[in-house]
Order: sequence, then structure tokens, then C-alpha cells
Amino acid sequence: MQQEYKSKSYTHLVYVLLLFIAAGVGTYYAVPMLQTDAVRAMMPEMMREMYPQKMGEFGHYRGDAVMDEVNRPIRNGTNASCLVCHPYIREMHLEGVHKTVSCEFCHGPAADHVKDGNLIGDLPKKQGEEIKTLCLRCHNQIIRARPKESIKMISMPQHLEEKKVRIDHNCNQCHNVHAPLMWVNQAKAIVGAGEGSK
Ligand code: HEC
Ligand code: HEC
Ligand code: HEC
Ligand code: HEC
Repeated sequence: MQQEYKSKSYTHLVYVLLLFIAAGVGTYYAVPMLQTDAVRAMMPEMMREMYPQKMGEFGHYRGDAVMDEVNRPIRNGTNASCLVCHPYIREMHLEGVHKTVSCEFCHGPAADHVKDGNLIGDLPKKQGEEIKTLCLRCHNQIIRARPKESIKMISMPQHLEEKKVRIDHNCNQCHNVHAPLMWVNQAKAIVGAGEGSK
């Protein structure tokens, strides 16, 4: 029969506990010291990075982070800022059902395109399948969380099957991307179905 052995000595656990307490107290007093210039000057570079300056200045985060955020360059403009230079798009966009949609959602940030009123680069213009993906990011029926009263949803390929066209049709063959109902309503007007919003 095996002999059961149960230790009655807990001293080894007490040592571990004391070590934790010492580390806690030590950290509590040492961390503020790590912020003082004299102590920082003695630290190796790596350690200085581990204890960023201004840590805990306002709360449990690096105090400098606030100014870093404030100084981050602004990357986005407004639709109005785009429209001054794109009068043709302006005409369609402001009249159409997409007037509340941000140009930059579909084209990317102003900062890649204009700087101080001058052109500095091209914004990508989505083509082919990319357009479908873009449209479906907002209009896909499978996005359950989106309130259907605010954005009309479609399912693919049912949407195209209903329209009796081949399912490789792209969205912008029937919908002007900047005024999605413009062509649809023009077509309706021709067949005498009356005009609605663009
Ligand atoms: C300072 C005037 C100016 C501003 C502001 C401006 N653009 Fe442009 N944009 C141009 C010019 C000029 C071109 C190049 C000529 C062209 O293709 O129409 C261009 C081209 C484009 C193109 C590519 C067209 C193509 O055929 O490839 C897109 C997309 C575009 N701009 C979108 C935007 C968006 C979105 C904004 C707002 C964030 C914007 N633009 C703000 C002047 C401007
Ligand atoms: C719903 C997405 C979407 C929005 C919002 C949008 N665009 Fe576009 N835009 C596109 C796509 C896709 C193309 C290229 C395909 C096409 O024209 O059918 C395009 C093309 C363009 C072009 C190239 C010229 C042309 O007619 O082909 C310019 C310039 C442009 N957009 C500017 C803008 C500006 C300015 C705004 C905001 C007022 C804006 N777009 C809003 C998706 C969008
Ligand atoms: C950033 C989100 C967003 C993107 C991307 C987007 N749309 Fe829209 N779309 C809207 C909003 C918002 C409306 C206005 C509310 C509504 O009518 O559904 C709208 C309206 C429409 C309508 C009119 C629905 C109706 O009968 O009232 C059509 C059609 C449409 N979009 C097609 C497209 C196409 C095609 C694309 C791709 C080029 C596209 N949308 C990309 C947000 C978006
Ligand atoms: C063959 C032409 C055609 C193509 C291609 C097409 N649509 Fe449509 N779409 C229509 C017509 C027509 C309507 C009905 C508009 C109306 O009755 O006012 C419509 C309506 C819509 C609506 C509004 C739905 C509603 O419940 O009122 C959305 C959103 C839409 N389309 C998005 C898209 C997207 C996104 C694509 C690309 C994946 C696309 N469409 C491709 C013709 C087309």
C-alpha cells in the first residue's frame, strides 16, 4: 500500500508570496522614479522605450499620446471640398439618392489626391468586379444589422434575375454610381412610367 505523504510545511509558499508583495511595492515606488530625468539618463535605451516618458501623467496611459493624436494630419475632406473641382459629378451627386454618401467612402481620402488646392495624385477609380463589391458593402441583404428602412437592400444574383439580365451584369451598367436612379428613371420616362427621384 502506498503511503500518503502530506507536507505540513508552508514556508516555501510564504517566500513566493513575499516575493510578489516586494515586487508590487517595488513597482509602485519605482515606476514614478523611472520618469525622473536623472534615472532615465542612466537607463539603457531599451528600458527607456519600455517606460515611455509622461506615462501616467493624466491617467494610465502615455501623456504624450494626447498631442500625438491632435497633431495627426487630417486625411479626409468633405463632399463639398471634392465638388468644387468636379462640377460634372456635382450635378449628378447632389440631385441623386446618393447625395448623403461620402465621396471618400468610394474613392479614398482627400490627402492622397489634393494638397493645398493642388493635385498631387490620382484617387483609385473602382472598375469591374470591384464596383460590385463596393456597392454590396452597403446594399447587401445579408448584412442583417442594417436598418432596411434607411438603406434599400438587394440579394444577388436574385436582383439581376428579376431584371431578366445575365448575372454577370455590373451595377453601373444600370445604375449611375453617383445618382443610382437617374438612368432607371430616364428609362421609365421613355416608356411612360413617370419620374421619381434620381
Ligand atoms: C483641386 C481640385 C480637386 C479637388 C479638390 C478634388 N479633385 Fe479629384 N481630380 C481633380 C483633377 C484635376 C483630376 C484629374 C482630371 C480628371 O480625371 O478629371 C481629378 C481626378 C479624380 C478622380 C479620377 C478620375 C479618373 O478618371 O481617373 C477621382 C475618382 C476624383 N478626382 C475624386 C475626387 C474626390 C473624391 C475628391 C474629394 C476628396 C476630389 N476628387 C477632390 C481635381 C480635384
Ligand atoms: C457609391 C460609390 C461612389 C460615390 C459615393 C462616389 N463615387 Fe465617384 N465613382 C465611383 C465609381 C465606381 C466610379 C467609376 C465607375 C463609373 O464611373 O461608373 C466613379 C468615378 C468617378 C470619377 C471619374 C469620372 C467618371 O465619371 O468616370 C470622378 C471624378 C468621381 N467619381 C468623383 C466623385 C466625387 C467628387 C464624389 C462625391 C461627390 C463621388 N465620386 C462619389 C463611385 C462613387
Ligand atoms: C456607403 C454606403 C453606400 C454605398 C457604398 C453605395 N450606396 Fe447606394 N445608397 C446608399 C444610401 C444611403 C442610399 C439612400 C437610401 C436608399 O434609398 O436606400 C442609397 C441608394 C441607392 C439606390 C436607390 C434605392 C431606392 O430605390 O431608393 C440605388 C439603386 C443604389 N443606392 C445603388 C448603389 C450602387 C449601384 C452602388 C455601387 C456603385 C451603391 N449604391 C453604393 C448607400 C450606399
Ligand atoms: C439590369 C439592370 C440592373 C443592374 C445590372 C443592377 N440593377 Fe439595381 N435596380 C435596377 C432597377 C430597374 C431597379 C428598380 C428601381 C426602381 O424600381 O425604382 C433597381 C433597384 C436597385 C436597388 C433598390 C432596391 C429596392 O428595394 O428598391 C438597389 C439597392 C440596387 N438596385 C442596387 C444594385 C446593385 C448593388 C447592383 C450591382 C450588384 C445592381 N443594382 C445592379 C436595375 C439594375
